[in-house]
Amino acid sequence: MNRRLGILISGRGSNLQSIIDAIARGELSAEIAVVISNRPEAAGLLRAREAGLETVCLRQKDFDSRDTYDAAIARELEQRKVGLVCLAGFMRLVGQSLLKAFPQRILNIHPSLLPAFPGLEAQRQAFEYGVGVTGATVHVVTDELDGGPIVLQAAVPVLPDDTVESLSARILIEEHRLYPRAIGLILDGQWRVEGRRFRLTASAEAH
Ligand code: GRF
Repeated sequence: MNRRLGILISGRGSNLQSIIDAIARGELSAEIAVVISNRPEAAGLLRAREAGLETVCLRQKDFDSRDTYDAAIARELEQRKVGLVCLAGFMRLVGQSLLKAFPQRILNIHPSLLPAFPGLEAQRQAFEYGVGVTGATVHVVTDELDGGPIVLQAAVPVLPDDTVESLSARILIEEHRLYPRAIGLILDGQWRVEGRRFRLTASAEAH
């Protein structure tokens, strides 16, 4: 599979950084072709520039509709021959024109064990619900919010003295391990989706 990544961010960009670092350490064989933000003030844009990556900022308000906005993102990605799109704290729903341009080629990372606690502030939702275990999920993006086939998950226990902040920090450590691994798995191409299930094919399981 084409190993050129397009990374979409809206904020801090710590997951972007984990992907940059995994590539630099030789743990992930990939190339970041472009980092796209929907917010000009996203700190992740600075991280990208410091790493010498090309950045693009596209704001929804500069476009007539959600669809023309998504089409513009798709165009930026296609122009750079991106093979896999990674949402990394991209705080927007992905619309049809982007989904159609990259079928089963968009990943997202979410800070809970999906399907529990989709949507915003998943760590807080889990904490306030009172679960004993939460975690992080990398999934294939579909038109259902946080609902696509699950690629990898990591569990994180909720400790007796946890606050939302301490729990979120431990989940984030797992996110940074999980996302580069999941991207590597997808790029290796030894998988298929059957219904809702993400299945590794025999040769990948043997590794
Ligand atoms: C992460 O918790 C990620 O799971 C969620 O948004 C947050 C982004 O953080 N989708 P960062 O911008 O990667 O630091």
